[in-house]
Amino acid sequence: MINKNTLKSIDLADNKLVILNQTKLPHEEEYIKTDDFNRIAMAIERLEVRGAPAIGIAAAYAVALGFKGKTSKDYELFTKIYERLYVTRPTAVNLFWALNEMRNKYDSINDGDIFNELLKKAKIIHQDDIKKCEAIGKNGQELFKKKSAVLTHCNTGALATGGSGTALSIIVKAFKNNLIEIVYVDETRPLFQGSRLTAFELEKAEIPFKIITDSTAAFLMKNGKIDVVITGADRIARNGDAANKIGTYNLAVNCNYHNVPFYIAAPSSTFDKNCENGNAIKIEERSSKEIIELNSIKITKENYEVFSPSFDITPAGLITGIVTEEKIYKPPFYFG
Ligand code: MRU
Repeated sequence: MINKNTLKSIDLADNKLVILNQTKLPHEEEYIKTDDFNRIAMAIERLEVRGAPAIGIAAAYAVALGFKGKTSKDYELFTKIYERLYVTRPTAVNLFWALNEMRNKYDSINDGDIFNELLKKAKIIHQDDIKKCEAIGKNGQELFKKKSAVLTHCNTGALATGGSGTALSIIVKAFKNNLIEIVYVDETRPLFQGSRLTAFELEKAEIPFKIITDSTAAFLMKNGKIDVVITGADRIARNGDAANKIGTYNLAVNCNYHNVPFYIAAPSSTFDKNCENGNAIKIEERSSKEIIELNSIKITKENYEVFSPSFDITPAGLITGIVTEEKIYKPPFYFG
């Protein structure tokens, strides 16, 4: 049963996945309860569940639930589920990492209690993420030398992960340690994960915050109002180039110009050893409708052309450090 006071993006109840529908937040806390792998794939596509670690965990549960009631291996079924989930979103590597973990598990088990074996593995992936979030939060306390004003982008909290979050786990812990004066929350266009989701999480944690438009950051930095910027990541290449929500690169450039430290926080499942650098990372593009319309109100003309990448790549050279569950990596980065 989901405890409505502790935010959980995903949970397991009665062998069904319970997904907090993030498209309805912050106005409505609606839950989707399903054991249908195709419905879970749709939830990932629709961003009902989103955030790099959370979509990996949801995909792992989807693989297991696809085998509910099965007692023997079925390679055709496994491939069908795996391939359906594989095409849901392209940028966050945690999705592919989790699917490959599930494939390795599938390959290693014999006929028998296949459903419970796969479910056990999905639960391990989920539990590991909870521990990693805690460790990231703890390791990130080193970033604060004094009570600070922090700026963050997109949503990196409990909603984006299986646990307490990445960048937001650091911020929430720092607040408890009396190290946060205020959090500036980028609204995060086009889907407002900042003003809808991060604001909602900060409100629940009773942390003082102000929402800003994405283009306000440079102005605040120029006026000495930001001590540190911390964001998450969706995929980190071997050389440290990091994909994250569109607008993160702008922030890193602004930090560099204004001499503000720029940190990324991510679990090891976000590192992609197959990507030598950021050029190899596939960037998702979003529908023009998300720019043309807001809650069905037309902001501009339908026939205008739109370019709407969902993520950008921050070059390693602009990153002050990467906070992981193990430690804080400092440049020059090389994740071999
Ligand atoms: O499109 P989204 O909302 O899935 O994008 C999420 C982000 O860009 C997050 O900042 C990133 O996944 C880090 S979450 C811990």
